[in-house]
Amino acid sequence: MLRRSMPVGPDFQETTKYHYSKTFAPGLHVHPAPPITVYDASLPRIDLPKPEVADGPGLWETIARRRTRREFTGDPISLAQLSQLLWAMSGVTFATPDGAFRAAGSAGGLYPNDTYVCINAVEDVKPSLAFYEVPDHRLCLLGEGAYGFEMARAALGQTCCSTAAVVFVWAAVIARAAWKYSDRAYRYIYLDAGHLGAHGQLAAEALGLASVNIGAYYDDEVAGIFGLDSQQQVIVYMMAVGKPAPEVI
Ligand SMILES: Cc1cc2nc3c(=O)[nH]c(=O)nc-3n(C[C@H](O)[C@H](O)[C@H](O)COP(=O)(O)O)c2cc1C
Repeated sequence: MLRRSMPVGPDFQETTKYHYSKTFAPGLHVHPAPPITVYDASLPRIDLPKPEVADGPGLWETIARRRTRREFTGDPISLAQLSQLLWAMSGVTFATPDGAFRAAGSAGGLYPNDTYVCINAVEDVKPSLAFYEVPDHRLCLLGEGAYGFEMARAALGQTCCSTAAVVFVWAAVIARAAWKYSDRAYRYIYLDAGHLGAHGQLAAEALGLASVNIGAYYDDEVAGIFGLDSQQQVIVYMMAVGKPAPEVI
């Protein structure tokens, strides 16, 4: 592993700055990466219920109520709730012949952050690992099994990852943004992820669910759980969601 004596942060900030003379750096990758990740057609899929757009509490009320809550009952959430959460973060909200725009914005409309889900407790779905297929609004099942404890260990021992009903994991396909933005793509990837986390928390709140955004985890361990190549796909953010346990004051 590369060891640096200088902190990398200031260096990164400096080298990824735009100037009048440098506003569009040529990409590192000559060919754009595929715009979406596609898994093998033979893997099982779960169609998600149609998202609800006409109902729910008001935005202002939801913002006022939003809070990080790490205590979950462990009870399952419904598939409709999982569907609503995924749609509110990454679902297609505006389709044109040139492309599909999603609930949360993304620099250049490139959507480099893929959504993976560790399913601990969802009604009528076995504990499993899944990938959200945005264009079809469905889940691709990557493997059956209870991975909550592995997720908690990979999240520096944060037990909320095993007691939550689901843990969302955002993994960026760097090349999907870097072909256009070069190293500045990293900034956008993290900013994009922030939008996903914010949408997700507000959606969870609107559904009466508890949620916690998670930035502390062993990157390669999380990537390993989902079978991702951590050189190509970088884990940028996570969010655990579940039924809220009664508040302990
Ligand atoms: C980028 C980011 C990373 C975070 N990472 C964690 C985390 O790893 N574990 C955790 O328990 N909370 C995490 N949080 C939640 C914060 O601790 C929480 O937002 C903060 O205490 C403010 O509380 P509030 O969200 O209720 O306003 C994170 C929040 C953000 C925005």
